[in-house]
Amino acid sequence: MRVAVVGSGYVGLVAGACFADLGHTVLLVDNDQQKLAALKGGQVPIHEKFLPELLDRHRGQRLRFSEDLHAAVLESDVVFIAVGTPTTEQGEADLSYVESVATSIPSALNGYKVIVEKSTVPVYTSEWIRKIILRHAADPDSFDVASNPEFLREGSGVTDFLFPDRIVIGVDDERCVSVLRTLYAPLTDGSYYQRGDAIPRPDRAQIPPPLIVTSTKSAELIKHASNAFLAMKISFINAVASICEAVGADVQQVCQGIGSDRRIGHRFLNPGIGYGGSCFPKDLKAFRAVARECGYDFRLLDEVMHINEEQRQRFLRKVRSALWTLRGKRLAVLGLAFKGGTDDIRESPAIMLVETLLQEGCSISAYDPAAEVRAREVLPASVQFAENPYAAVRDADALLILTEWDEFAALDLERVHGAMKYPIVIDGRNLYDPESMAEQGFTYYSIGRSAATPEVRSSPSNVPPRAVENS
Ligand code: UDX
Ligand code: UDX
Repeated sequence: MRVAVVGSGYVGLVAGACFADLGHTVLLVDNDQQKLAALKGGQVPIHEKFLPELLDRHRGQRLRFSEDLHAAVLESDVVFIAVGTPTTEQGEADLSYVESVATSIPSALNGYKVIVEKSTVPVYTSEWIRKIILRHAADPDSFDVASNPEFLREGSGVTDFLFPDRIVIGVDDERCVSVLRTLYAPLTDGSYYQRGDAIPRPDRAQIPPPLIVTSTKSAELIKHASNAFLAMKISFINAVASICEAVGADVQQVCQGIGSDRRIGHRFLNPGIGYGGSCFPKDLKAFRAVARECGYDFRLLDEVMHINEEQRQRFLRKVRSALWTLRGKRLAVLGLAFKGGTDDIRESPAIMLVETLLQEGCSISAYDPAAEVRAREVLPASVQFAENPYAAVRDADALLILTEWDEFAALDLERVHGAMKYPIVIDGRNLYDPESMAEQGFTYYSIGRSAATPEVRSSPSNVPPRAVENS
């Protein structure tokens, strides 16, 4: 099919490349000249596994880039809207970009087209898109508006698109269902997964993925509710971690205990310095605002956001209690992105913590495998950026682990110990075991577990969990 994707950001670019890999002809539209030039030149502006390979495979063939939205709609059967939906001061989703795209569509309706909102938008948005298009005297039979929310996690967007747990389609008219079923057929009929050049299959892949067809309003709500639930799960375990700290329990063992219940599950149960990124913070505020507009006071979401904010403050207090005074201290920081596997620093807790520690007079030596370029744009010049973790920790008074990059969980600890001024590690992502860190001579602080110091063995509750007998 002929597909136009408007907005070549974290979502649009991944969606466009994947639709091309499914065999469709894709026009990726963007109003950012620089971004388009970079994409046409073969650059990949975001850090996404397998995206470079897909772009190299299809660029100039099935996948082309254009700034001409009108022309792109004229030559497409399906038009995806994947432009930004940032948060306004009032915490609502700013839909002005969505509206500006919708107003450009009516004049290009040279035949039946399906207009699909891909960006995360509040419920009722599809109705507004329909109204806008009709306001421009479009023939009601010449288009339909559908919702097809994305569930892509940054860093694994391509895998999440091609191996989704589910595909959700929100439609209010049967006519466009067949168009969208055809669009996703290579996934739902399983043929994509038989191809020799399919990207590697993740474990636990749902093959073929179910296609959930519902109304546009339900599809819009599925997206907001999914993200709100995941954020709530993270805030829940962070709250439990705080109780574990208060009583000397071990939150990792509590996670093992509760996560073994398949109704709860182990995923998204990792305590840390709280969630960040361009989705959870924005989507929770938007969902909270939508609920209020619909007359429901969704106070639970306020507490989810409050716990998340408090988690960062708790971590700062942990740093202060570990170092007593902060002024003049040299801190090594591993991780600046909002999570491992991405270069994105939007709403990154690591960035916020670094800014606060700088204001308290610390000097910071930071390393992040992918986010340095973006971090340099927002952090003051006083921050030193190291080439690797070992350069970052040299002569440091303490090491702070702020992003869960895999490589930070496999450091040469002897080398780290030898390079630091004081072997103090404050781990905001629980990448290490307190007992073994103490054995290797570190004073080790983490989330939801007692501090471990070399001379004082930590309490027996920190004994690493025995292998669970297979029940
Ligand atoms: C976007 C939404 O912000 C998010 O809510 C949703 O979950 C997924 O889609 P993202 O792809 O990260 O997320 O947005 P962003 O990285 O800001 O990319 C949007 C792209 O649209 C940018 O490249 C921007 O240049 C482009 N754009 C924006 C247009 O082409 N036209 C516009 O009118 C506005
Ligand atoms: C999220 C949703 O997972 C995805 O489905 C949606 O489409 C977009 O928003 P993303 O924000 O890219 O994806 O990253 P995610 O992996 O969900 O992590 C979000 C934040 O939560 C990160 O800051 C991460 O560090 C944190 N997190 C995640 C935890 O603190 N604990 C966890 O167990 C999991």
